[in-house]
Amino acid sequence: MLGLYVHIPFCSKKCLYCNFFSVKYEQDLADKYIDALIKHSLTFKNITLDSIYIGGGTPSILSSKQIERLLTSINNRFDLSKLVEFTFELNSDSVTLEKLNILKNYKVNRLSIGLQSTDDKFLKFLGRVHNFKNFRAVYDIARQVGFHNISIDLIYGIAGQTVKDWENTLLKVLKFDSDNISLYPLSIEQDTIFYKNGIVTSDYIQRDMYDFSVDFLERNGYEHYEISNWAKRGNESFHNTNYWRNFEYIALGAGASGYLNRIRYKNVSNIKKYIELINNKSNVKIEKEYIDEKLYSFEYIMLGLRLLKEGVHIKHFDNIHYQNILEDFVNKKMLVKHGDRIKFTKGYEFLFNEIVSKFIV
Ligand SMILES: C[S@@+](CC[C@H](N)C(=O)[O-])C[C@H]1O[C@@H](n2cnc3c(N)ncnc32)[C@H](O)[C@@H]1O
Ligand code: SF4
Repeated sequence: MLGLYVHIPFCSKKCLYCNFFSVKYEQDLADKYIDALIKHSLTFKNITLDSIYIGGGTPSILSSKQIERLLTSINNRFDLSKLVEFTFELNSDSVTLEKLNILKNYKVNRLSIGLQSTDDKFLKFLGRVHNFKNFRAVYDIARQVGFHNISIDLIYGIAGQTVKDWENTLLKVLKFDSDNISLYPLSIEQDTIFYKNGIVTSDYIQRDMYDFSVDFLERNGYEHYEISNWAKRGNESFHNTNYWRNFEYIALGAGASGYLNRIRYKNVSNIKKYIELINNKSNVKIEKEYIDEKLYSFEYIMLGLRLLKEGVHIKHFDNIHYQNILEDFVNKKMLVKHGDRIKFTKGYEFLFNEIVSKFIV
């Protein structure tokens, strides 16, 4: 069983903080890109998928016809009889009833919507195209169409945002009763307008907002199952959880990463090049790395510790170097043993990078 990630590298406009691989949507280029994705999918044979994630970029910016062509091909090409979860990412400014009905007809059963903030002032600051009213309308229609699993993405620690502002955002988001909520601290990434403009964030304020979120969401029926993710019980993202469990998945599309037969790979991050390579039946994988035993254990720990409830099996710490580091963190009560699992002590997951970097081999 495998997961499939499909990358749609188009957006209506670049958000000022984002350095994910995406360019401005053009109908003609997107048509050719969908053709290439379909041809790429034909190179995979006899694959049963248990999860699919179509992300971006902005998958919902594709036209109804483009979405239908892509989903038809995925439905025909892969065995979906064991499919558990099929997620499609949406930006509310590009969603229509017609598109939602197509998604529903082709087995999409989970939507992930980028809201980022409920305050139009911050949406504008972030360079988002949608406003809160627009999100509300799309969310309601999606529920009416029959989507029972919806996730909302939010960003906190935006320059100028107070803890009170953040509390108000969470209060408003709670009313939607969404199944999953993903919270990301604003990070200032290179090659973004925010970086060029010298926008700064505060670690202290982000920490306060994070602590508030942990308590608030738990009090209101959400379980904190991954550092950045909360869900109603039973609605944890299956695809993403498998990723954190270090399971394998294949990748379609420019800039998409996959992991198969112990090899991590990345497809070329250039749309025209990707289309050209696919049309010439050439290899689109530009980066390949074999994951040897040492790296495998490190990745297992690094990814698995993100799963706060599940943690990592103790057998992955099975060398003297790891045992010493683990003992040190357990003595300092930063990590904790629960039976044969190792997990973060509540609160220490915020120091994820600092703690996990000690395990680098
Ligand atoms: C790459 S986006 C794709 C989803 C969709 N295009 C959208 O923006 O709503 C996935 C999520 O990553 C988060 N994100 C992207 N860049 C970020 C940054 N620099 N800091 C914090 N979160 C970020 C946003 O919350 C976004 O919803
Ligand atoms: S945050 Fe989403 S919508 Fe904005 S540029 Fe990045 S991928 Fe596109």
